[in-house]
Amino acid sequence: MKEKLLEILEKAKNEVKSAEVMNQLEDFRIKYLGKKGELTKLLKEMGKLSKEERPVIGKLANEVRSSIEGILEENKKVIKEKEKNARLQSEVIDVTRAGKINKVGHKHPLSLVLDEIKTIFIGMGYKIAEGPEVDTVYHNFDALNSPEDHPSRSLSDTFYITDDILLRCHTSTVQIRTMMNQKPPIKVISPGRCFRSDDIDATHSPMFHQIEGLVIHKDITMRDLKGTLDTFAKRLFGVNTRTKFRPHYFPFTEPSGEVDVSCFKCSGSGCRICKGSGWIEILGCGMVHPSVLEECGIDPEIYSGFAFGMGLDRIAMLKYEIEDIRLFFENDMRFIEQF
Ligand code: PHE
Repeated sequence: MKEKLLEILEKAKNEVKSAEVMNQLEDFRIKYLGKKGELTKLLKEMGKLSKEERPVIGKLANEVRSSIEGILEENKKVIKEKEKNARLQSEVIDVTRAGKINKVGHKHPLSLVLDEIKTIFIGMGYKIAEGPEVDTVYHNFDALNSPEDHPSRSLSDTFYITDDILLRCHTSTVQIRTMMNQKPPIKVISPGRCFRSDDIDATHSPMFHQIEGLVIHKDITMRDLKGTLDTFAKRLFGVNTRTKFRPHYFPFTEPSGEVDVSCFKCSGSGCRICKGSGWIEILGCGMVHPSVLEECGIDPEIYSGFAFGMGLDRIAMLKYEIEDIRLFFENDMRFIEQF
């Protein structure tokens, strides 16, 4: 039996040394020391030994067991070290290699100007309102007091989806939606896309952007309208900007006007940007028509208000001296990154 024990030890030593990966070591442990392993099997035969032999063989068996355990443990360390080195080799990082540059996006000039305009109005206590780009003829025309024969209603000016549904041709739809859903006081701006059946050229695009403004409260007068838009113009174009209110006509405001600002480039002396006039038109505005208030369930005897609408694309073109509106929609990064 002594010889057998030593034989097992010898065999185990050789086999374990040949192990290359962790799993193999575990297999060997089971093979020699496991419940059905070679050593255990041999020890089951101890009963056959004489009284004198038993303690001697027992002691030897224990020594063999701990020797095998020792060998396994030692090899475990060796293999672990080997595996670690192999990993370090394969995961080597060359810190001298040129890095990859991640391209970070750039804000579109329209977003930049919109952010500026939003900041100005939010600073004056306005909230942002939103409305759908596909809307009803009712929200776009009827509720805005637009006469049946108004030219902008024609198929050649507005994109119709059905007889009652269209792509909104201005953000004034949001005036109606806001007044129908909110009680005064109301103080909102609403930026968004609009659509008109215009041929594309340097200053026209069938898709463009407007920013609508609406204020409804008791005792709102033309003075509030003028003060608000004058403050806005000075914040956006510079403190020395002057504003001029010209009479105009919109079905949904009465009185109505258009606002010009003194040219921020030549300060009014006349240049290429203002086409020599010294003034630049930036928006339409007026006092909300009593019929519109009534249509939205607001009593015009108690409440009054003003509204305005400006073209974002046009303002951005003026501010950045961009000569062709099409550049906004071509998504050429060489253009976009200039602002
Ligand atoms: N909706 C008008 C337009 O598109 C602008 C406007 C808005 C005028 C609000 C007055 C009041 O031209």
